[in-house]
Amino acid sequence: TGRKKIALIGAGNIGGSLAHLAALKGLGDIVLFDVVEGVPQGKALDLSQCGPVEGFDAKITGSNDYADIAGADVVIVTAGVARKPGMSRDDLLGINLKVMKAVGEGIKANCPDAFVICITNPLDAMVWALREFSGLPHNKVVGMAGVLDSARFATFLAWEFGVSVKDVNAFVLGGHGDTMVPVLSYSTISGIPVHDLAKIKGVDAGRLDEIVKRTRGGGGEIVALLGTGSAYYAPATSAIAMAEAYLGDQKRILPCAAYVEGKYGLDGLYVGVPCVIGKDGIEEVIEIELSDEEKSNLKVSTDAVEELLVACKGLDGSLA
Ligand code: APR
Repeated sequence: TGRKKIALIGAGNIGGSLAHLAALKGLGDIVLFDVVEGVPQGKALDLSQCGPVEGFDAKITGSNDYADIAGADVVIVTAGVARKPGMSRDDLLGINLKVMKAVGEGIKANCPDAFVICITNPLDAMVWALREFSGLPHNKVVGMAGVLDSARFATFLAWEFGVSVKDVNAFVLGGHGDTMVPVLSYSTISGIPVHDLAKIKGVDAGRLDEIVKRTRGGGGEIVALLGTGSAYYAPATSAIAMAEAYLGDQKRILPCAAYVEGKYGLDGLYVGVPCVIGKDGIEEVIEIELSDEEKSNLKVSTDAVEELLVACKGLDGSLA
């Protein structure tokens, strides 16, 4: 067909939400893949039956066979396990690294020309490992975290200032962990720097610090409330925005976990930075100026990511 093909690896909470959004937005035909038999097939049937109501014709299928992702244009990876209350994202490393190996090999064999968006945690390490296992070019493998973290930051800022979320442009750098770096100096509300609007509105620095802290712990706050599983609606929405930027050659500048070599003083690492997404995938990493404090916060965050890569190499000799 002339339609695009979207492969979703992992048919759990995020995978199901991704399929629903991709169908509603008409991104293309959708294949849900999972190791569990029945689940992707069942979700695909349920989602197909939204078609008559919503008026979409997307073909949605479920599969346990990697051959069915052949020729996919976009692959979004959520395979693996999610956090339970009290766990950090890093606690998932051992299990999810093995999953990334299987997924990377499946992508390499069946759709090496795809644009691959990884969501599985711990994100910055898993997207790196997925790239290694798949052997795809670095510009075609990216991690979704910054769009979500920025959306959380923007939500809290909009609530605090009593303004529309549409007018908030919030900026987050670094790894997708507790050391992420929400950057207030690059965050604006309708073009007005947050610090300026805070003065006008009488929002004190302490409140802004609390918002930064809440953003950093935004995923954990939801994990604790849910009791089982982690966030999925906003993670799915965020990855779909990245897929749309690629499919539509939109040249959006989005914060993504991208491969950074040279910029930000980094030497071959996946971490959250502003990127241009267009038809060639990650077309550019944009290096912005940072204050000394922002730089040292980013260093803490990238050091934490590097530590996880060392752990990955220790667990799987083929990565060393
Ligand atoms: N290959 C394919 N799918 C797998 C594999 C594998 N090797 N191992 C597990 N899965 C599937 C599970 O069967 C499950 O259906 O991945 C799915 C994960 O779904 P959920 O447990 O509902 O998790 P979800 O909330 O979707 O999050 C997935 O994204 O945000 C991250 O931390 C989160 O790492 C987690 C991932």
